[in-house]
Amino acid sequence: MVKMIATIHEMRKIIENEKQRGKTIGFVPTMGYLHEGHISLVKRAKAENDVVVVSIFVNPTQFGVNEDYDVYPRDLKRDKELSEAGGAEYIFHPTVEEMYPNGYQTYVEVFGITDKLCGASRPGHFKGVTTVVNKLFQIVSPNKAYFGLKDAQQVAVIQKMVKDLNMNVEIVPCPIIRESDGLAMSSRNVNLTPTDRQAALVLSRSLFNAKSLIEAGTRDAVELFGVIEDNIEEETSIKVDYIKIVDFETLEEVKEIKGKVLIALAAKVGKVRLIDNIIMEA
Ligand code: PAF
Repeated sequence: MVKMIATIHEMRKIIENEKQRGKTIGFVPTMGYLHEGHISLVKRAKAENDVVVVSIFVNPTQFGVNEDYDVYPRDLKRDKELSEAGGAEYIFHPTVEEMYPNGYQTYVEVFGITDKLCGASRPGHFKGVTTVVNKLFQIVSPNKAYFGLKDAQQVAVIQKMVKDLNMNVEIVPCPIIRESDGLAMSSRNVNLTPTDRQAALVLSRSLFNAKSLIEAGTRDAVELFGVIEDNIEEETSIKVDYIKIVDFETLEEVKEIKGKVLIALAAKVGKVRLIDNIIMEA
């Protein structure tokens, strides 16, 4: 039975105990409203570690003032059932006051790669992410931590933080899990109206078209950008935030598909901001 832990003190005591017994800790940080993508991370963590901790914390510091913190979906009962079915032993579910008590003043920030893609449209977002992930790592002391590649920039930013700060944790990037019609799984999908959900399919479709072109030999990034843009423009209700073709490590834009390349996009579909990407190696 999965055990719910609300305080940092209790979580630390449990981890200390597990480590004394020689157990390795796999960690899956989440903001809850779990879907199959999260559960694939829990299962992988379970396969590679003795004990799995899932954190469920909708982190206010990574949301901008006009973003969806208040309407971010929450369902702790269901999250508990899904985490347990995935094989987790513990859910760490602190309150905002527990994580950011009165007088809280410390932030962790990665520079450079956080200014691009989502960082350009969501100033301060990654500072909130790296701060909370750093805090969670301090509390859970995992051997390995599992992150989905739907948030590819987040993975790159966290890997950079771990490297630069010599943190003793292995980051395990895991593939995007999609609905059968191609839509990348996201907790935010529940906030799409049926019409918007249908329109949103053009996002993955445009990326799959780009993938087919690359597989057929296209290397010109401008040409691929044009194809993705033209595809998405077919859905007039969608407002593209960005479409970027970048080197996966530096996140700098590339002219040619060479090495490991991330093709990432973000768009507003109705009231919901969605992201999706593919990673190609040529
Ligand atoms: O990817 C998420 O759900 C969040 O950004 C994370 C990593 C749990 C930090 O709040």
